[in-house]
Amino acid sequence: MQITFAKQPSAGTGAFAVGMTEDGGLLPAAEKADRMTEGALTRARKVAGFTGKAGEILEIFAPTGTKRSRLLIVGLGKTADFGSPQSERIAAAVLGRFKGGADRELTFAVDRPRGARLNEAELAAHLALGALLKSYTFDKYRTRKDGEKPIALNKVTLTTSDPSAAKAAWAPLEAEAKGVFLARDLVNEPANVLGPDEFVSRIKALSKHGVKIEVLGEKEMKRLGMGALLGVGQGSKRESKLLVLRWNGAKKHKEAPLAFVGKGLCFDSGGLSLKSGAGMMDMKGDMAGAAAVTGAILALALRKAPIDAVAVAGLTENMPGGGAQRPDDVVKTMSGQTVEVLNTDAEGRLVLADALWYAQDRFKPRFMVDLATLTGAIVVALGTEHAGLFANDDTLADRLIAAGKATGETMWRMPLSPAYDKLLKSKIADMKNVAGRGAGSITAAQFLQRFAGKTPWAHIDIAGVAYPEGGEANPLAPDWATGWGVRLLDRLAADVEG
Ligand code: BES
Ligand code: MN
Ligand code: ZN
Repeated sequence: MQITFAKQPSAGTGAFAVGMTEDGGLLPAAEKADRMTEGALTRARKVAGFTGKAGEILEIFAPTGTKRSRLLIVGLGKTADFGSPQSERIAAAVLGRFKGGADRELTFAVDRPRGARLNEAELAAHLALGALLKSYTFDKYRTRKDGEKPIALNKVTLTTSDPSAAKAAWAPLEAEAKGVFLARDLVNEPANVLGPDEFVSRIKALSKHGVKIEVLGEKEMKRLGMGALLGVGQGSKRESKLLVLRWNGAKKHKEAPLAFVGKGLCFDSGGLSLKSGAGMMDMKGDMAGAAAVTGAILALALRKAPIDAVAVAGLTENMPGGGAQRPDDVVKTMSGQTVEVLNTDAEGRLVLADALWYAQDRFKPRFMVDLATLTGAIVVALGTEHAGLFANDDTLADRLIAAGKATGETMWRMPLSPAYDKLLKSKIADMKNVAGRGAGSITAAQFLQRFAGKTPWAHIDIAGVAYPEGGEANPLAPDWATGWGVRLLDRLAADVEG
């Protein structure tokens, strides 16, 4: 979908969207459209009882007095609440009205409500971002187009008083959207098509944007002593890989890089601690953490971020089979610590144990953030609204919470403490990989903390937000893969870069 910014709406026949706030009424472009249509907007508003609540939309098809195919009055909510997440959601809601139908072009008149928390250029850019993110489809496997109709628009124009300022605000957001789309594509891809090897070949194209790519195979990982990661993959016919992506955008490389670490289970069957049939559904998406850190690096590269960052993704597949790891096996991690694997389905923490240790040992990062679809328990606790945030460092946690609020990728901080850590005590090794029934997301995080060393570290459990079922759970994405985390990490980087 093409996004353009213009001073004046074209004289086209496409759809035209104007805004109205709950507390300030029709905005200037809406007033103008109202006059042009001899008061149709005002009358329609009254008939429908439209008050301008955020995300509320009123459509007038084929209005007289204009060649436009339809007018949309878009509710912007209360002026004081109006920031970037709201504008993105509103634009996405508008796009949702264009599934099927004859409209291919939409013009959005950007009127900044007085007192809004963003300037006009930012408003235009965030409306564009909401529209673009919502337009995503994954339909490469449909040979028949008889399912739900996709959004039919191919051009969105935003009219604004200073198009070049809007374009400047848009450039980094467009980079972010490309990172999100890459992450969604990787997560949506079924596991028969996308294993560790295919993940790696897919992202080879990132090198043309200046990203340095390294791939460690099983031989190299064995040499490094990554017994935990390798143990998870040993039941699969596919070779496990450790993917290392580096974006070195800082001017002088004086500061240590940021490190992003991702769980990359291309499929999680549970291994010999086999999941139920229903529990195995969606487990092609168990590499969403790896996809998000990959998408974030692409976003940094595309916007030429002046910062050094590295992403480490542990890519593997958790399968049962003759060679599979058994419950009660003991593995030795790269850190030297040993783990008793009581449940082969608690595999994400095993993969991350080696990936985290490797990241801090090799790169000595400023801080380290891991993203993982780690526990079903976090879905029970927080649903699809917030991801679970765990951190050994309050400054990093606060930065993430702020970046989450700014991007709409929100988190809720969960506790870590020695009392929870104790629950990992093993009878024969340094720790076991599962504790009791209670506090499942927390004990998983405690496990990871043992592999973060002294580095400021945060863990984000994205099991509830990476691929929520039902299209309404994430307003900026169609059903399933959201690409959650790309925007958060890009924003975090932007907030700390020099
Ligand atoms: N990948 C799953 C977690 C998951 C569950 C993600 C549901 C998304 C939706 C993870 O590897 C897992 O199996 N976790 C177990 C841990 C348990 C064995 C301690 C879980 O949550 O049941
Ligand atoms: Mn599992
Ligand atoms: Zn898993």
